[in-house]
Amino acid sequence: MDLWISKSLTMLVAIALLFIASGCEKLDNPLNPEVDSVQNNNPLPDEEAIPQEEKIKIGFSMDTLEEERWLRDRDLFKSAVESLGAEVEILAANGDDALQVLQAETLISQGVDLLVIVPHNAEAAATIVKKAHLAGIKVLSYDRLIKNADIDLYVSFDNERVGELQAESITKLVPKGKYVYIGGADTDNNAHLFKKGVFNILQPLIDKGDIKVVYDQWTKNWLPSNAYANMQEALDANGGKVDAVIAANDATAGMAIQAMIEAGIAGGIPVAGQDAELAAAQRIVEGTQTMTVYKPIPTLAEEAAKLAVAMARGEYIDTSRKVNNGKVEVPSVLLSPIAVNKLNIEETVIADGFHLEEEVYQGNNR
Ligand code: BGC
Repeated sequence: MDLWISKSLTMLVAIALLFIASGCEKLDNPLNPEVDSVQNNNPLPDEEAIPQEEKIKIGFSMDTLEEERWLRDRDLFKSAVESLGAEVEILAANGDDALQVLQAETLISQGVDLLVIVPHNAEAAATIVKKAHLAGIKVLSYDRLIKNADIDLYVSFDNERVGELQAESITKLVPKGKYVYIGGADTDNNAHLFKKGVFNILQPLIDKGDIKVVYDQWTKNWLPSNAYANMQEALDANGGKVDAVIAANDATAGMAIQAMIEAGIAGGIPVAGQDAELAAAQRIVEGTQTMTVYKPIPTLAEEAAKLAVAMARGEYIDTSRKVNNGKVEVPSVLLSPIAVNKLNIEETVIADGFHLEEEVYQGNNR
């Protein structure tokens, strides 16, 4: 009898303890089963509850991975975030607005602590910002500005300066003549800034009558095939006689050059691009492209990663610059772009290790 009583008491105490323990778990984390399961594995129930610092998770929503630079951005951003002890989930939308919204929603529902976005469409991405904020998630606009939305931070280059550097280089070589402007995607705020920068330099010369812009078109979705068609149109409309070409990036410059090669006029006409892509660096040393604008992507990715993780940890970010996006003055960090031509390619992109010397020169003499 005594034995029976003592066994029953032991069982009752055990059941009561189990009940109390499971009740406590639910109170600790009523909405987060994942954290529950981590706590359930704690082998030391009597140890004082030490709040474990959760690993910060960043969501990175990218427009595309179609160009060389964005692959670099992806890889560098990932390793920078990881070296800060956080993790990152990356999704790319292949230039599809609806898909980018859907992917961002997925990241939000996965419970990321902060969303970093390279918007395909500056205006359409405002929807993502609203949804993120409703879920209490801050948004960092990466390289491209999201327009008309309450974004928390913008990290990019001085994109207007990119256009100025292009036009400064080309007008030095061609102070008078017929210019072709192959713009970027109309839906990308950067394309507008690049163009503004170019015209900051060209306009006084246009006003003087020295320069005439004989062709000026956007390149839908930044597609090189559209740039090729644009350049053919420019040549057709001007009987193949143009004096200079400014293209909004290296991919579009490459196809403009292709159209000029086919028209038998490449090499003699200065062409500007941007991004310091390997193919552009090779064209520069070969002589079919005059210059590119080098934007050190490692610096952008590292800066953005550092700020994203700090913001996700709730730290206050102090920036001296603000950029108006049509709705708010967005706290901004804008890095400096660098003009690159045949003369300084060694001391810029090659010295930085952005490209290897042997890749740029492909075994040819310097
Ligand atoms: C970026 C460029 C890039 C272009 C096309 C712009 O927003 O700033 O570096 O070449 O998009 O992807």
